[in-house]
Formats: sequence, C-alpha cells, structure tokens
Amino acid sequence: MKAVELRLQHFRCHKEAVVRFDRGSNIILGPNGSGKSSLLEAFFFISRLRSFRTSQPREIVGHGEKRFAIHLETDDGSFRVLWSLGGKTLEINGEPVAQNSDFWGRFPCVLFSSHDIALVRGTSLEKNRFFNGILSMLDRRSLKSLLRYRAILRQRNAMLARHGAWDSSLFKTLTHQMETVGRPLQDEKKRLVSAFSKWATKIHRSLSASQEELSVSYREAAWEADSGRERHAGRSLVGFHLDDVELLIGGKSARKMASEGQQRTAAIAMRAAEAMMLKHRAGVTPVILVDDVFGELDGHRRAALLGLVREPFQMVVATTEETPELAGLADVHRIRVGGAGIH
Ligand SMILES: Nc1ncnc2c1ncn2[C@@H]1O[C@H](COP(=O)(O)OP(=O)(O)OP(=O)(O)O)[C@@H](O)[C@H]1O
Ligand SMILES: [Mg+2]
Repeated sequence: MKAVELRLQHFRCHKEAVVRFDRGSNIILGPNGSGKSSLLEAFFFISRLRSFRTSQPREIVGHGEKRFAIHLETDDGSFRVLWSLGGKTLEINGEPVAQNSDFWGRFPCVLFSSHDIALVRGTSLEKNRFFNGILSMLDRRSLKSLLRYRAILRQRNAMLARHGAWDSSLFKTLTHQMETVGRPLQDEKKRLVSAFSKWATKIHRSLSASQEELSVSYREAAWEADSGRERHAGRSLVGFHLDDVELLIGGKSARKMASEGQQRTAAIAMRAAEAMMLKHRAGVTPVILVDDVFGELDGHRRAALLGLVREPFQMVVATTEETPELAGLADVHRIRVGGAGIH
C-alpha cells in the first residue's frame, strides 16, 4: 500500500496540515521541534490506533483543543480517525468501523525509530508486543485470539489478586480457556520466530560488516498452573504472555554482551525483517517510516539500510539533515516542515 495524502487537524503542533507523498522515497526535512516525528506518529496511529511516543492519546491533541483528526488517502482506500475525550470514530473508505480490531493494521507500516533499541535491550514485554504485532498483521485470526487471550488473562489476574472467597471451579475454567486459546498462539509464534530469525540473520549480515551472526531464539513459558503460588504472587505465573525471545549475536546474548552500535544494528535488522516478512508472507507491502535513525549509523550501515528498504517499499524518512546517502537518492520527494508551514 502507498500513502498518497495525509491530512491532520489539531495533531500535536500541526493545527491543519495537508501533506502529499510520492510513491517512492519521501524525506521530511526540518529543524528540531518542527513536527517531523509527529507526521510519522500520525501514520503510526492510523495503523495501530496508538502512538509510539505515548500511551495517552490526549497528549496528542493540539494545545487548547479537544480533539484531533487524521485522514490518510492511500492508493488502496482511505482511513480516518477522529479522537476526542468522549471517544473515537473510525472510518475506512468513508464507512464507519465499530471495532478497533477491524481497523487495526489495515494500513500496514513499519516504523524505525530510536525506541527500537528496546527490542534488544528491553524486557520480554517489548519483544512480545513486537512479535504479537507481526502475528496479528500476518493473520487476523491471531489478532482476535490475542485479544481473547488478553481478556481471559485479565480476568484470571483479577481473580488471583483478589483476597477473600476462592472459586476454584471458575479458576479451573479460566485456566482451561487460557490454555485453549494460548497454546495454538504459542505454536504459531514459535513458527513465526523461527522464520523471522532467518530473515533477521540475513539482513543483519548485509547491515553489519562483521561476520557475527544474529539469531533469534524463542523460550516457551510453562503452562502447569499452581494456584497456591499464583495466589501468593497475585498474578498469573504461567501462560503464553510470559514467553520470551532472546537475541543472540555470535551465540552470545545481545542484551548483555553486545556493544551499543551492535545493539542498534540488531534493532534495525529486527525492523527490516518485520518489513520483509509482511511483504513476503502477508502479501502487503508496508510503508516504511524512518524517524531519524540514519544519524546513528555509520556510512556502510546507512547505505545498506537504504538498499533494503527503498524498493519496492514506499519510504518516509524524517531527518534534520540529509545524510550523503539520502541526498544521493534519485527521485526523492522532499517535504519541508518548519516556520513557514509544510511545503
Ligand atoms: N499536544 C501538542 N500540541 C501542540 N504542540 C505539541 C503537542 N505535543 C508536542 N508538541 C510540540 O510539537 C513540536 C513538534 O514535535 P516533533 O517531535 O514532531 O518534532 P521533530 O521535528 O520530530 O523534532 P526532532 O527533530 O527534535 O525530533 C514540538 O515543539 C512539541 O513541543
Ligand atoms: Mg523527531
């Protein structure tokens, strides 16, 4: 899918903005604080119904306003989100969409940002969110199962956290439901991580000059429930959500052993692998959003990353200054943000 035009109202510093995009490479240029990341944030919100910078959409609403609106025209339909304190409305091609899950992921994008370092250094929570996202993009049934799993888990955790009378038959039922929904998800995720690892290894090799190999391994959590221990902890200690994914570079833990630069390269390889998997498995070509990560990379890595994500993807890069690799691209559409608005 390719973005054609983005229209914003009261979205952070953009009171009213209309931005057009080319099918190929787009570079958003502007000084610090001019609203470049906010444009990428709007794309991301249309895709995932959340921001990559805050869990509170109200922070996005322009100062002194009560709502924000995003309208994205693509070559394959239009998407609209209207968010206000009273609730949000969603539309695809002008038709209202009642369920978040019917809107989520319809506009596919992959965002590269400095936050991605959490995929290497962060907790299992960040990594699970990343892989669950890919799983949901590849198969909408997985998205529904994940939502169902989360609802059961919430109920089970609430029960474990509660003091007082204990309903062991309800606990058994919830445990059974959690396993029934969670086991197939776990199997799917295991297969996904194994295929993903191959992509990540290949991409990492082309990004890094080093011979060290990146691999991704999956560690399954247990399913044997122990209500005594779990009640003591006040939360579920078993289940699919506690699976972990470990990144290894040259067989050693990337989180513990890798240098800063190696970790950044690994994080970028993870994102690029996400883009490749979506394209090859789901048959959707995500729009590639890049929030200023080029500055963190050396020349070789910058050129390698550009080579990976340019064709056949549509690319939208936000940066304060063009690196030589970006400046050298043919057919670039430059979007300047700053004092005089967007042009
Ligand atoms: N809710 C809001 N309403 C109005 N302005 C906001 C809101 N939230 C953030 N801003 C402002 O929007 C501006 C643009 O932020 P943004 O992060 O998009 O800039 P940027 O161009 O990506 O900057 P940088 O190059 O430093 O990353 C900032 O000056 C910020 O203070
Ligand atoms: Mg920014």
